Amino acid sequence: MKKTSKKILSVILCLTMIFTLFSVAASADEAATPETGDVFRISCSVNGDTATQRGFCWYTKESCETKISVFAGDVDVTESLTLCDVVSEEWEGNFMHKVLVKGLTAGTDYTYRIYGPNGTYADGSFSTDDGDDKVEFIGIADVQASNLNNFLKGARTAKAAVETMPNADFVVTLGDYTNDSTNEEWDYNAIAFDGINSGVTQVPVAGNHDGLGVWNWFNNMFCVDTSESVQTLNGMNYSFDYGNVHFAVVNTNDLLSVSVPQLVWLKKDLMSTDADWKVVFMHKSPYSLGKDTKWPDTLYLQESLESVLNDCNVDLVMSGHDHQYLRTKPLKNNKVDEDGTVYVLAGTAGSKRYEIREFILGHFLKENMVAAMTVQKDGYGNYWDGTSFDNTKETNIGGCFNTISVDGGKLTYTAYIIKDKTDPNDETEEDVITVIDQFTIEKEQGENEIEYTGDKTTSKAAYIAGAVPSLLGLVSYTLINWLPRFLVMLPKLVYVYITQDVF
Ligand SMILES: [Fe+2]
Repeated sequence: MKKTSKKILSVILCLTMIFTLFSVAASADEAATPETGDVFRISCSVNGDTATQRGFCWYTKESCETKISVFAGDVDVTESLTLCDVVSEEWEGNFMHKVLVKGLTAGTDYTYRIYGPNGTYADGSFSTDDGDDKVEFIGIADVQASNLNNFLKGARTAKAAVETMPNADFVVTLGDYTNDSTNEEWDYNAIAFDGINSGVTQVPVAGNHDGLGVWNWFNNMFCVDTSESVQTLNGMNYSFDYGNVHFAVVNTNDLLSVSVPQLVWLKKDLMSTDADWKVVFMHKSPYSLGKDTKWPDTLYLQESLESVLNDCNVDLVMSGHDHQYLRTKPLKNNKVDEDGTVYVLAGTAGSKRYEIREFILGHFLKENMVAAMTVQKDGYGNYWDGTSFDNTKETNIGGCFNTISVDGGKLTYTAYIIKDKTDPNDETEEDVITVIDQFTIEKEQGENEIEYTGDKTTSKAAYIAGAVPSLLGLVSYTLINWLPRFLVMLPKLVYVYITQDVF
């Protein structure tokens, strides 16, 4: 009885902290920064035209010339390219370098060399879009580590993804690269992913653990063109085309999820393309059965995005944040509709994994909306067979990665889990990779039209000015839409918390 009272008291205390949603975990226990070399945190990112441009960002410990060479085969083609928007400045204790490379040739394999101080250098490679109507990419989410060992576990998942889809045009990371977004954690990330990041073009999406609440902190880990979007505090909004797909990245970490200026930008952006496919990346998941979906920011994100995604014929939304895999059926107006948008919560590549919160069903997510679900957690490893969430598979306990292939009018999505090793240090233990979900979407090509050609830019000042209406919108959603549903759900939540210790 005493324990029960304690649990009820805990629930009440949690309710009083409804708006304290994003407390960041305690700082990493590692105090020392590992040796990172003289050129580190190297990224090659999408930046504008994916056939002819790439953005590079890297760091050095000391000030030096910002220098990169680009090669096509054995030929140094740097002289024929335009290197612009060069940045070389001190940033939070290191020296940051950025370069936008223009004038690349479509459909070409390139290598590059980035030079650091004292004759040091680092090499990498990328390929440009060839202009056909095919694109292949990898999606991972939520490594969210704070020590090198856990970053290495996330990197093992990413390595398996790259080996599964070796010709991927890019890798999208759906946020929460780190836990506290410290210099040390970004260094660990760079060390763990060394040899993976250097061979791919990256599409970065900021998570709520990545921003540090410092303007441009996340932006300064990459060189991405955000000039025609909304400038936000803890992440980036931008878009690009690859193959016959238009991709938009939305930062869901400011103002608790998404702001009015962001929604305006997103709608204009999605209406300014006639690409056959429209895909949106974000960190927080509008639909989930994880621990974070019971809070008002999720419902606000779900309901405020819905009309934009519906109006703009978005085919697929990929997200993270809730550390499990869940795919919805196509949804339109919050109902199953074969012409609607498929939402995929892309599992976690890392080692922090969430249980199912079945008490959410019927309140924030209807069971008939769920098409597939897998929990990766040790002791659970659940999957949904269409009727029950209680089925378990040992192979479901591991890191999740996703491969997506678009070929003309067909999109094929496959999700995998690489089973955790019994002994993490056993190099001889073979990887067990299991397909946990696969689906296809088919559509007629040439159906989308350009409906907007005006200005899409939103300045930092306009974004800040939009903060008040955005917060008012969130508060009204919270009081009118979220709170009544939460209160109806509360008895179930309390029961599950007391009997299963799941909150
Ligand atoms: Fe997150």
